[in-house]
Amino acid sequence: MDDLIERAARDLAGAKNVAALTGAGISVESNIPPFRGKGGLWEKVDPMEYAHIEAFRRDPGKVWEVLIKGMKDVIDQARPNAAHLGLARLEKLKRLQTIITQNVDGLHQMAGSSDVIEFHGSFAWQCCTRCERRVPTRKLDLDRIPPLCRCGGVLRPECVFFGEMIAPEHLARSQRIASQCEIMLVIGTSATVSPASYIPLISKESGAKVIEINPEPTALTGSVSDYLIAGKAGETTSQIVAQLERLI
Ligand code: APR
Repeated sequence: MDDLIERAARDLAGAKNVAALTGAGISVESNIPPFRGKGGLWEKVDPMEYAHIEAFRRDPGKVWEVLIKGMKDVIDQARPNAAHLGLARLEKLKRLQTIITQNVDGLHQMAGSSDVIEFHGSFAWQCCTRCERRVPTRKLDLDRIPPLCRCGGVLRPECVFFGEMIAPEHLARSQRIASQCEIMLVIGTSATVSPASYIPLISKESGAKVIEINPEPTALTGSVSDYLIAGKAGETTSQIVAQLERLI
């Protein structure tokens, strides 16, 4: 793996326009379980029964009880890990401009990254399904499930459920960034959910170098990615940043 760390550091040292696509795997070392694979959330909870917008509309109380409450407990405890901090450092070193994240945990911003597109929304805010009033998640009172707005409407996280559109502005900006970057770092995603999974392909088609960091190969490996650094996000990102700082 060391020569791939060196290769990634050299690629970044010579780059001026770098973007990253991150997934649940980058937050695993912050004790937020992934969705798929070992210990994945979808092994315990059926996403079509609990993470689809129609399921929420049918029975918001059940979705809050089974899925959303647990997400809040986990995200409330989570802090940025070495991978989030490493990407924030890359931004300081002008070797990363924008992060497109599929995660809703806010850990990139907490780590200091300043340009983060929350492709699947954010868990930091709740929205009333009746009057559209916004409420910070940290101010929620979960003694009553589902939590209600003062107008009596049911509150929902500002995350994208299955069956919902990605915010048009996020989709458009992400596609533009993906088509203009020289390097697309792809960290901790199984690349199984579209349209996020197409972002590295847009970069590849536009002539960018696609570098994957993941303990396991994904659908991108060997076809879209130029190379896979097989490892955990925290240690791998830290090693790349350390090597880059020696080079520049
Ligand atoms: N470091 C890096 N990658 C890791 C680590 C780690 N420590 N641990 C696990 N991974 C990898 C796994 O190998 C897997 O490829 O992270 C990936 C996690 O995949 P998913 O759980 O499918 O997460 P993600 O790709 O972000 O899912 C996309 O699916 O359910 C929806 O909305 C949800 O945003 C999510 C989307």
